Amino acid sequence: MAKTILITGASSGLGAGMAREFAAKGYHLALCARRLERLEALKQELENQFSVQVSIKVLDVTHYDDVFTVFKDFQQEFGTIDRIIVNAGVGEGRRIGKGHFEINRATAETNFISALAQCEAAVEIFRVQNKGHLVVISSMSAMRGLPKHLSTYAASKAAVAHLAEGIRAELLNTPIKVSTIFPGYIRTELNEGAKKLPFEVDEKTGCRALVKAIEKAPIKAYVPQWPWLPVGIAMKILPLKLVNKLS
Ligand SMILES: NC(=O)c1ccc[n+]([C@@H]2O[C@H](COP(=O)([O-])OP(=O)(O)OC[C@H]3O[C@@H](n4cnc5c(N)ncnc54)[C@H](OP(=O)(O)O)[C@@H]3O)[C@@H](O)[C@H]2O)c1
Repeated sequence: MAKTILITGASSGLGAGMAREFAAKGYHLALCARRLERLEALKQELENQFSVQVSIKVLDVTHYDDVFTVFKDFQQEFGTIDRIIVNAGVGEGRRIGKGHFEINRATAETNFISALAQCEAAVEIFRVQNKGHLVVISSMSAMRGLPKHLSTYAASKAAVAHLAEGIRAELLNTPIKVSTIFPGYIRTELNEGAKKLPFEVDEKTGCRALVKAIEKAPIKAYVPQWPWLPVGIAMKILPLKLVNKLS
């Protein structure tokens, strides 16, 4: 029987791109985000192309109670949710100490507290099912503290990576698997307008690589693996003035 994947932040970028790749592999999809028109268009596109069931729901992940309700509703609709991808995120951020606490706070909230709510809701479902695959989308920026507009973003992505590892530790030796994914630069709306980014790939290439990695249910994956696996190792040991060049 076809398996079901729930993806948050599925209205654009990596969420929508992964939905396309997973639909092509025959997975049913439970997709959510705030922009309903985008989700409706994606549902139609996928159902026209593939014989899969696509269910969509509006969800603002910063409305924490709604995260639990929407995830449970999806679970009831499909019976079993086999994989949940905690993907919704924002790339907004400002230099620290320049009067933009509200923007940085919103980034920290969406990327970390909302991810915590999604992990809680996902693991609750998986505990009842006694199976499931939790996938947390972190970022290569989680490897080190980063300057400029990336400080809060990088910290939020390090936080979700640590959270995912803690959940993995909690669930060791159970049928529930936890993967932490560290994407490098993939061109999406998140980094729209940015000058050429180091080692950037387009959305399609990035999403193909993400899905290939996620299908293996790894503990961790750096995506695309080349060059981000060695770059990740280098980022952890290089002096900050060299790491800064990646931001
Ligand atoms: N692109 C990269 O280079 C890159 C690299 C590393 C990690 N990542 C991570 O990958 C994830 C996806 O990013 P992307 O590049 O695909 O960016 P994107 O195209 O801007 O997509 C972000 C998605 O998150 C959703 N979202 C944002 N705030 C939300 C909220 N409050 N409630 C519900 N959904 C929300 C957006 O949907 P709505 O606006 O419709 O709600 C959208 O679907 C993020 O976690 C990002 O940090 C991206």
